[in-house]
Amino acid sequence: MTQLNAMIADWSAEKRAAYGDEIVRFRHRLEETGLFTDEALAKLFDKHPVAHRDICTMTPNPPPGQTWIAGEANGLSGAEIIEAVRKGHLWASARSGMVMHPEYKAVFDAMMAEFGRAIGQPILSANASILVSGPKMGIFFHVDPAETMLWHVRGTKTINIYPRTDDYIPERALEAILLKETLSDCPWRDEMAAGATPVTLHAGEAVAWPQHGPHNVINGDNLNVSVSIEYNTPASALLNGVFYVNGRLRRTLGLQPTSRGTPRALQPAYWAASKALKLLAPPRHNVEKAHPRQFDVDLKAPGCVRWREGCGPEVRQAA
Ligand SMILES: [Fe+2]
Repeated sequence: MTQLNAMIADWSAEKRAAYGDEIVRFRHRLEETGLFTDEALAKLFDKHPVAHRDICTMTPNPPPGQTWIAGEANGLSGAEIIEAVRKGHLWASARSGMVMHPEYKAVFDAMMAEFGRAIGQPILSANASILVSGPKMGIFFHVDPAETMLWHVRGTKTINIYPRTDDYIPERALEAILLKETLSDCPWRDEMAAGATPVTLHAGEAVAWPQHGPHNVINGDNLNVSVSIEYNTPASALLNGVFYVNGRLRRTLGLQPTSRGTPRALQPAYWAASKALKLLAPPRHNVEKAHPRQFDVDLKAPGCVRWREGCGPEVRQAA
């Protein structure tokens, strides 16, 4: 049993009632663990497996529809990576960093146990990455299949959260993500900006938003350190079961089902059907996370990005 208020500083009955339907903000105590200082992060990147590390670049203040470009930081120490992120145009993630190292996992287990008690729901599974990103970097408009929340530790960032309607994320597009036909079939149109609810996070603040809420992120003019968490509760697993089954029905039988209006009482049947379908008739599509590496991190290059041959903005503009 974890200590009450050990990780979450200001939970309340109102937040518990709003959770699941509304954007919920709260304060946390992650910084007090000492695991997110420059020194600790340098150590983390020194030992975190390269295969679980994501390094990317983008235009500062990227528009929501602009995806990032993957690169590598081979041969750099953790301290050099942090320095490059601070002064360059870079975003670095220790994917699953909160579960792969004992000192972080102990904190993560405590966080999620306390969060599960706060929302009054069991956490069936959870994973979390540690994100370190530079001034004005961001994350493009997308949807995550699982429940997600962001615990922000250092710097300032604004997350724009959009409605969960067909105008922002059509059911077919969400199904495509759940069926692994695509990783990012979440098309952006400029008129969608009007529907954003901006949430600015300072150090020590966190936000959880309703499952399948599309979002994009823009950093303030400073180094950002955050923990990005994805998790499943019984409610989120059931909802994904509905979208999964309807996605298969739409594609195999040509039906036009609607998932968002499915009554809660019917959701367990869909969930059971989704389990059976995945086992007995797995879909043919299964995109892998493969992005061509287009640059190397270089502390002496502009934005700390040294483009590989045939890559870079000039090449992209000419294409
Ligand atoms: Fe996300």
